[in-house]
Amino acid sequence: MANFKLGFIGAGFIGKFQAKAVAQIRGCDLSGVCALKGAQELAAYANNNNLGDCTVYGSVGELCNHVDAVAIFAPNFARIQIMQEIVDAVKSGAPLKGVICEKPLGRTIAEAQQLVDLAREAKLPTAYFENQIHMKGIRAQMEQLAPVQATMGPLGLARSSEEHSGPHEGWFWDPTKQGGGVLSDMGCHSIAVGWYVLTPYGKPVTFLEPISVTAVTSLLKWGIPKYRAQLLARMGVDYSKTPAEDFATGMVTFRNPETGQLVQAQFTNSWMYDKQGLRLLMDGLGPGYAFELNSLRSPLEVFIGDEAAEAVADSEMALEKATASRGLLTVETNEADLYGYVDEIQDAVENFKQGKDGFLNFAYGMEITRLCQAAYLSAETGQTVFLSDPAMQSTLKSYKSLISQGRGAEILHLT
Ligand SMILES: NC(=O)c1ccc[n+]([C@@H]2O[C@H](COP(=O)([O-])OP(=O)(O)OC[C@H]3O[C@@H](n4cnc5c(N)ncnc54)[C@H](O)[C@@H]3O)[C@@H](O)[C@H]2O)c1
Repeated sequence: MANFKLGFIGAGFIGKFQAKAVAQIRGCDLSGVCALKGAQELAAYANNNNLGDCTVYGSVGELCNHVDAVAIFAPNFARIQIMQEIVDAVKSGAPLKGVICEKPLGRTIAEAQQLVDLAREAKLPTAYFENQIHMKGIRAQMEQLAPVQATMGPLGLARSSEEHSGPHEGWFWDPTKQGGGVLSDMGCHSIAVGWYVLTPYGKPVTFLEPISVTAVTSLLKWGIPKYRAQLLARMGVDYSKTPAEDFATGMVTFRNPETGQLVQAQFTNSWMYDKQGLRLLMDGLGPGYAFELNSLRSPLEVFIGDEAAEAVADSEMALEKATASRGLLTVETNEADLYGYVDEIQDAVENFKQGKDGFLNFAYGMEITRLCQAAYLSAETGQTVFLSDPAMQSTLKSYKSLISQGRGAEILHLT
């Protein structure tokens, strides 16, 4: 049987990471790339590493005609236009078996809904990429603790955080392009994984009903004049005019529809985590049991003293968003696998082959967008957002956060 052919739209940071994931699964090739920048380089990587016969295509439509499924790995602001081009290609006969989209599905609930509707219009199976739910560590603790949970009852509290020192491209920092700051960028991960680990083992991913969201957004580092100036020089984004939050935290409350039990997921995200590099920290507490996962605890560390630091290799080879190149450094040898990229891409391919959605589909991605946007609204108003209130549901449908409108200065503190 011929290998399943994947096409990537976008060849930047996540495109390169996902190519490393494709290298670790069977029966799948990276066969095409379409991107404004970096396509030749990514195709060369694929061809040099036996990921398949990879061709660069000049348009999304052309790519769709030569592969089995496409993955949207382009910036958040380009989602709708790209999805429209995919749907047009399918309507004109492109034989696609599925479409993948990276998080966040939309910058607003309305945008996420548009993506859901467009995929339905083209009758395309979908996969929403939320890698943390596919992390082997997250899956393993759930399997390990399933019998304990059956006896003792489900987890009551999950705490999830994703933090690093800040994104690599200017568009992430610009709230009008990205859809907000760190809450829009990484809060979606932490909210999703919190919801997932709280869900009783074996139940569907949306089994627990989201009841309410309370959140805070702040600007703790990148609003200080020295760091604002650095950001402007490095990324071309002026936080004295259009600031975004570099810290967000909050609580989502869920209800078990069978037992009425309330459980809570706390999330914390920052772009001001000046430690070794990216850290994912999740824990869960149930009656009489618990789990904890910390991605910075690797079995491998290297030490580079001051005298040797001149000769150091690129520190990001050791760890995503590494901030130091000397001292005691954490090294993760297979980040594509650790963070769940390998398992999410395998899941999408296997399901698309059978004509099905991935484990997480676009409709699920929209629910995550809804929770994220509810968190922005809560932070803006200083109030808890109750999700079952019909008036609140209608407010959220057309809600666009002040921060994403470029009006963050009205609510964030600039020093
Ligand atoms: N799951 C994760 O951990 C994770 C990590 C990083 C990024 N992401 C998501 O992946 C997406 C891409 O992020 P990135 O870090 O790779 O960004 P990036 O800026 O590094 O790369 C974006 C790529 O898309 C291309 N592009 C831009 N507009 C395009 C268009 N209209 N048509 C085709 N190509 C276009 C660019 O040329 C570039 O190749 C974002 O939505 C981001 O939120 C997810």
